[in-house]
Amino acid sequence: MSQNQPIQWVLNPKALTTVPSASAEQVLPVPSFRMARKFHRQLPGYRMSPLKALPNLAAMLGVGGIWVKDESQRMSLNSFKIMGGSFALYRFLNEKFGTPGHDLTYTELISPEMHTQISHITFTSATDGNHGRGLAWAAQQLGCPCVIYVHKDTSQARIDAIAKSGAEVRVVQGNYDAAVRQCSQDAAANGWQVISDTSWDGYEEVPAWVMQGYSTIYQEAQEQLSAQGMTKPTHVFVQAGVGALAASTAGFYHQIFGAEQPICVVVEPSEAACLYESAKAGDGAPRTVHGDLDTIMAGLACGEPSPLAWRVLWDCANAFVACPDYVAAKGMRVYAVPLDGDPLVISGESGAVTLGALMFIMEYPDARALRDALGLGPDSQVLLINTEGNTDPEYFRRVAWEGVLPVPHEYHWLPTWRTE
Ligand SMILES: Cc1ncc(COP(=O)(O)O)c(C=O)c1O
Repeated sequence: MSQNQPIQWVLNPKALTTVPSASAEQVLPVPSFRMARKFHRQLPGYRMSPLKALPNLAAMLGVGGIWVKDESQRMSLNSFKIMGGSFALYRFLNEKFGTPGHDLTYTELISPEMHTQISHITFTSATDGNHGRGLAWAAQQLGCPCVIYVHKDTSQARIDAIAKSGAEVRVVQGNYDAAVRQCSQDAAANGWQVISDTSWDGYEEVPAWVMQGYSTIYQEAQEQLSAQGMTKPTHVFVQAGVGALAASTAGFYHQIFGAEQPICVVVEPSEAACLYESAKAGDGAPRTVHGDLDTIMAGLACGEPSPLAWRVLWDCANAFVACPDYVAAKGMRVYAVPLDGDPLVISGESGAVTLGALMFIMEYPDARALRDALGLGPDSQVLLINTEGNTDPEYFRRVAWEGVLPVPHEYHWLPTWRTE
């Protein structure tokens, strides 16, 4: 795929052809949303993440509103990921130790009685950083051992953050997908419990719980939008690695609004655009992209889609977009240097790419067909998820202070389309 062009896209003609989607219903049943919210509310340090409005940037780009669900400070762990891992861990233990008609409370979960029953269980997962950090934190709350697998290019800052939550970190000589395989093999050999955000043949229940956990983010966003007099956003832009978050997003809105769901745009790095390639193939089967998956968007550097997530996205996501790294870098800088009157948003590489993508879609003349197909314009209320804060401080400074990955000159802002 050409590394240079800011936006490559494919529309999904299958989206919303079958309503309701059986896949969304299977993976994201509505009662699971309530269960997730009830659980998260009990966690120490839980509070709603902010929903920030960027009205001045919206006016500049020609959309009605930009709303950023800002996960950069979630539970002091700097990313949204804790919402999925913690809920999956909870559901796993609730299945084992809950009683019919009574879901375990958080107090019961951390009680000394429970501890004697579960302290021998080792939890494990592969990660590109944020999921591992969240899982390590959740296991630490329960006093359970945790082993996290990272790939060889994971930054020391990310490894240190996971280790700080008490997990053993193992570095695998390969990419993220190799780390997933190594984790699964070691877990089988050692009798550990995998709490993975990605799925594979025969392993779908836990990843579904992870996706259900993310629904708390959208339940909060819905409450926050309704306080602004809005029933729902018209568009949601969501970034994807294996696709679990994106599937949760599209599936959540599909489950609540059916055919009236917001238009859902999935954004990936060009170097790891496995969902984009799957959509482009157009036959409903997921595709893998190989190689080093060399991108600054560490959280999105995944070559194999989660099959479970893909099934939901095939039914419910309207478009798939692939962007080079400079699009994410632009998003980071714009968030960090807001227009006068708009709030500051601290966003890491994976967090910021959806803003960069939205800006290019609105400003880049060659993206006009996509803009029109998505119906983006003055009536649009666009929801973005800032999925991470400053998770790699050294790289953040390189982008924000030293200006690495500048936008190539030929793609500098050209507002001509609006006067055509
Ligand atoms: C910051 C950030 N954003 C988005 C994602 C994408 O999530 P998923 O792998 O579920 O697609 C990740 C995954 O690790 C992430 O760390």
